[in-house]
Amino acid sequence: NDDQFKKVISHAKEYGYVFQSSEIYDGLSAVYDYAQNGAELKKNIRDYWWKAMVQMNDNIVGIDSAIFMHPTIWKASGHVDAFNDPLIDNKDSKKRYRADVLIEDYCAKIEAKIDKEVEKAAKRFGDAFNKKEFVTTNMRVVEYQEKINTTLSRMAKSLENEDLADVKLLIEELEIADPLTGSRNWTDVKQFNLMFGTKLGASAENAMDLYLRPETAQGIFVNFLNVQKTSRLKIPFGIAQTGKAFRNEIVARQFIFRMREFEQMEMQFFIKPGTQKEWFDTWKETRMKWHLSLGMGADNYRFHDHEKLAHYADAATDIEFKFPFGFKELEGIHSRTDFDLSQHEKFSGKKLQYFDHEENASYTPYVLETSIGLDRMFLAVFSNSLVEEELENNTTRTVLKLPAVLAPIKAAVLPLIKRDGLPEIAKQIVDDLKWDFNVDYDEKDAVGRRYRRQDANGTPFCITVDHDTLENNTVTIRHRDSMEQERVKIEDLRNIIKQAVDV
Ligand code: GAP
Repeated sequence: NDDQFKKVISHAKEYGYVFQSSEIYDGLSAVYDYAQNGAELKKNIRDYWWKAMVQMNDNIVGIDSAIFMHPTIWKASGHVDAFNDPLIDNKDSKKRYRADVLIEDYCAKIEAKIDKEVEKAAKRFGDAFNKKEFVTTNMRVVEYQEKINTTLSRMAKSLENEDLADVKLLIEELEIADPLTGSRNWTDVKQFNLMFGTKLGASAENAMDLYLRPETAQGIFVNFLNVQKTSRLKIPFGIAQTGKAFRNEIVARQFIFRMREFEQMEMQFFIKPGTQKEWFDTWKETRMKWHLSLGMGADNYRFHDHEKLAHYADAATDIEFKFPFGFKELEGIHSRTDFDLSQHEKFSGKKLQYFDHEENASYTPYVLETSIGLDRMFLAVFSNSLVEEELENNTTRTVLKLPAVLAPIKAAVLPLIKRDGLPEIAKQIVDDLKWDFNVDYDEKDAVGRRYRRQDANGTPFCITVDHDTLENNTVTIRHRDSMEQERVKIEDLRNIIKQAVDV
């Protein structure tokens, strides 16, 4: 629900996980920065995926292709010359879908703007007792809201007639009339292209128009034959990669769920034509197992099979996760046939065929794709882990129950007090453990508060050094989720932590 989602966003900020990008300049819409703990969590998720996909599979290798790619690639892939979202392959529904999206986004933007403006005015009112200004802003907003309402009903009519051009005009009209941003001129009309353009080359005459990649998959397709030949892998085999992708999303909201700069973890599995059904089922099962292995609850996942298929697919399903705002796509599994490789053969003029020794024949392989958003996985893990617990003494504690394998900091070492040599021993333990794990040293505040701070940060273990440590080289180790404490030998700490955080 809404409240839970707000808590997730503020907790992510307060504990150094995710910040709005360029915040001191009021931020960029749908662009975020990962902070000290967020970068660790994100890296751990990426590693967990890489281990399962590349390290554990003899027939999958990983690559790291460039973000800049030859512009013709996006013609071959179908991303260029497609004003429409490539996900839907029916012309009319594409138009309809795009218009719906435009309107939804616009309404959300206006709502946010109104909220912000009213808040600002209210603040000024409080600050300077400027009642007049508050009332004027409110009046402008009310007036504008009326205009929005009439325009929206006109848009609905245009939509019935499937008149997208009219809808666009109405939106532009609204933006021009927008009292909160002042008047706009017509050159400011938006481009609804999902790809970000840029230029390669120093001088204007020689510059080449490029796009920032909107998916990492194409870097795998165009390297297919190079990788196959140098790795000497036989079909079936896979190529995996993780990396940034960029989309100028029209509906870009819901925190890191839909961003304009995000990271994907994709794997293309090259198979013999005709075996795609079998591999589709295998990868569905394999990927679901990967998710369930994190122990975030089977009830939080479901498959959503696509009825409408993208132009390149003959079967597709989403793994959906229960986010605070409901079940939404987390990962896509697509049977892409030979669409991509054939297109690249056509556009590049190079053969991208595989010679099958068993069949004694060449063919263009079919592709089974698994594609998951790293940021979306981050949001799934983070939102699912954040809980508020009622304790027996009627207090509540906020705890981030991250799977231990993903937690940014595995253990915090706390001297009970700041004297009697306890800090020195604690620091020695940190120095020993940091070869294997990310560990934290914390001596500020009472130990109870330090426990709570580590709970809220998702640290699975707190190791406390007290006066008994001086006598017998033992410490207490406190478990985040159960809050249970046990007395253990310092020399056993490494193994205890290792057991919990190893996959
Ligand atoms: N190569 C296939 C492909 O890119 P997609 O369904 O467009 O397929 C795959 O994207 C995954 O990437 C999605 O399931 C989602 O997790 C993630 N993703 C897509 N767009 C995103 C965005 N704007 N912000 C964050 N994650 C996104």
